[in-house]
Amino acid sequence: MISIAALRLKWAAHGSWEALSMDMDTRQWPADDGSRVPYWIYTDEDVYRSELDRIWYGRNWLYAGLEAEVPEVGSYRTTTLGERSVIVVRSAENEISVLENRCRHRGVEICQARGGKVDDITCPYHRWSYALNGTLQGVPFKRGVKGQGGMPKDFDQKEHGLHRLKVEVVNGVIWASFSEDPPPFREYLGETMWKPYERIFSGRKLRVVGYNRQVVQANWKLVIENIRDSYHGALLHVFLPTFGLIRPDQANAILMDESGAHSCMVSSHAEGVDVDKQEYNFDDTMQLADRRVIEAIKELEGKETASMVCAFPSVILLQQINALQIRHCVPKGPNEFELMWTHFGFEDDDEEMRARRVRQANLFGPSGYVSVDDSEIFANAQRGFAMAAEGEEAVLKMGSGGREQLNENYYVASEGAVRGLYQYYREVMEL
Ligand code: FES
Ligand SMILES: [Fe+2]
Repeated sequence: MISIAALRLKWAAHGSWEALSMDMDTRQWPADDGSRVPYWIYTDEDVYRSELDRIWYGRNWLYAGLEAEVPEVGSYRTTTLGERSVIVVRSAENEISVLENRCRHRGVEICQARGGKVDDITCPYHRWSYALNGTLQGVPFKRGVKGQGGMPKDFDQKEHGLHRLKVEVVNGVIWASFSEDPPPFREYLGETMWKPYERIFSGRKLRVVGYNRQVVQANWKLVIENIRDSYHGALLHVFLPTFGLIRPDQANAILMDESGAHSCMVSSHAEGVDVDKQEYNFDDTMQLADRRVIEAIKELEGKETASMVCAFPSVILLQQINALQIRHCVPKGPNEFELMWTHFGFEDDDEEMRARRVRQANLFGPSGYVSVDDSEIFANAQRGFAMAAEGEEAVLKMGSGGREQLNENYYVASEGAVRGLYQYYREVMEL
């Protein structure tokens, strides 16, 4: 059971304090086969604070960017991990540093720009200056002025560098962790997830095609749930079956690592289907004005048409037809998150392929024909949670005939992978 915050109270008309909501100590996860998820995990401020500490600032690896975004020494980008702003910078030819964007003098957020190129990192307030690897290298008036003031003799600059996160760059993707001792990234992701990860990120040099950002009025966990919820795919996203992106001749599966934290939704064609150049034309009565938006050119290994890796908790790495993209989730309290979308391709793409990837961002972007449905439904869900009575809960029984939690594969009519996620979540959160 999680440790708890104070009871929420209000001063009532009759002159005494009255409980506004139940204390988390009194809250119980429904005791059944794991197919119930209480709505308070999406709305409670104390649960959210605990998620930040245990999940976002714990032993997890968080997506920090692409190596291609910081190509030269001094190139940097700012991003947000959990609620903390960080600077991702190439600090030496073969070194990338991820530094907390917070001055060690008086806590000022140093850098507001999205990115650029610098020689050092200097705080605007009193101009403390840090090297690209975060070491404090300059303190104005350190020796005082005309013998007056200045830092005490025992002030040690070495102890006042910017907080550095642990970093691993894995096939062009930058991962960072607030933990001092995270497991090696590959071990963290697990061998089941490694294959689909390596299929997209093989080491082939990447190139960013563009960015989108969107704020959604919903809890961050809805993103993680959704990407392993194969049940909704053809039902919510009517574009997919209408234009043949979900087809009856394809197999869908959701892979999970042993813990249940990470997942990968895979769609592939059945044996005998020519995927070298696949034209989709499921419903001839509906026509797209420009069919190139769903034109698929086979380029990656295997017969998968779509592969969506969720590296818990921060990111989804997605390939669908020729759209390659990263959805980086940034929580902003229990009722809001931001999604930072990075559309990318490969450095050696020809102009036609680059244009195709941009075009297909119209399917899988914030206002894409497909993805717009998800953010709408997340906000609708959050509104539903807000109006629910204490004790109401989600029902995740689809595919639970055998009461299984974690299996290798789940098919369309199953919520097993979502149950698996919450089994893991309860362990980490001690709920
Ligand atoms: S707060 Fe950064 S130099 Fe003073
Ligand atoms: Fe979806």
